Amino acid sequence: MDAIAQLALYEADALLAIAAATDAAGIEAVRIQFLGKKQGRLKDLQALLGQVTPEERPVLGKKFNEVKDRVTAVVEERQATLAQPAAIVDGVDVTLPGTPFSMGHRHPISQTIEEFKSIMVRLGFDPVDGPEIEDEFHNFEALNIPLDHPARDPRDNFYLATAERTFGGPLLMRSQTSTVQIRVMQNTQPPVRIVSIGRVYRPDEMDDTHSCMFHQMEGLMVDKHVTMADLKTVLRLFAQAYLGKDVVIRFRPSFFPFTEPSVEVDMKWGDRWLEIGGAGMVDPNVLKAVGYNPDEVSGFAFGLGVERFCMRRHNNTDIRQFYASDVRFLSQF
Ligand code: PHE
Repeated sequence: MDAIAQLALYEADALLAIAAATDAAGIEAVRIQFLGKKQGRLKDLQALLGQVTPEERPVLGKKFNEVKDRVTAVVEERQATLAQPAAIVDGVDVTLPGTPFSMGHRHPISQTIEEFKSIMVRLGFDPVDGPEIEDEFHNFEALNIPLDHPARDPRDNFYLATAERTFGGPLLMRSQTSTVQIRVMQNTQPPVRIVSIGRVYRPDEMDDTHSCMFHQMEGLMVDKHVTMADLKTVLRLFAQAYLGKDVVIRFRPSFFPFTEPSVEVDMKWGDRWLEIGGAGMVDPNVLKAVGYNPDEVSGFAFGLGVERFCMRRHNNTDIRQFYASDVRFLSQF
């Protein structure tokens, strides 16, 4: 066999052996066998080179170097590959791309509630919860809403069709979170400073700003010398914390049976005013009914619509979208 053929055979054998090596020790053995400096097949070829004629030598020498470089490169490549962790683990090719899955996240209203809470906590209010199924006492009577008041009309409330009666009278889905004011004041002595966020239910006609179920944030502060100025400050600070410093809110005189004086709170949105809730100074009758002394303490209360703030923040104009469970809408938050 001439030298050229021997070189070709060497290269072919080397490539086969390299491919057959399955681990680092294997490829090292192949390297020694084919590229070893002291002995091995490269050494043999080199000896062969010494026997050819001086005319043949340059051509053959060049070929020898080319083959040696190629084999060296392939050995190094295989060494690098074998040094990597095994791609197949327990029969699974861990280098294959995974199946993508989409992450869910919290509903925009839940996100808003969390943010409301953290703002109010920073303002010193303790979050509390109250039941969604209420009795007439907490939803109306204790809030100074008399039996013949139109707010108690069964057509304006979701009364439960149950024979069950509590001490507080027939049951209904609460129409306002102001019920929580009563529950808290019945169980704690002033000073109180609480916030309660939750669902309320009203058989309203559904439209882009009304829903038969929505969320309110109720705030209540009772202490010595609490004034309307405190109420306005807290509401303004809250609105600015959630919507930014340049939010404009206004207070309009209004009436609620459980506050005196009472205001309605509006927020500027473009060139419109959007009503965002009611507020006022807790009526002395309410304070008396829970055993507080209106000559010693005073308080303010407010109830804000959670959805309306969220809509304004995200420039959404249809409240119904929050309850349609359309992922295309919800995934934007
Ligand atoms: N509960 C009233 C409503 O739902 C809002 C309100 C809360 C007003 C607290 C005054 C004080 O309309």
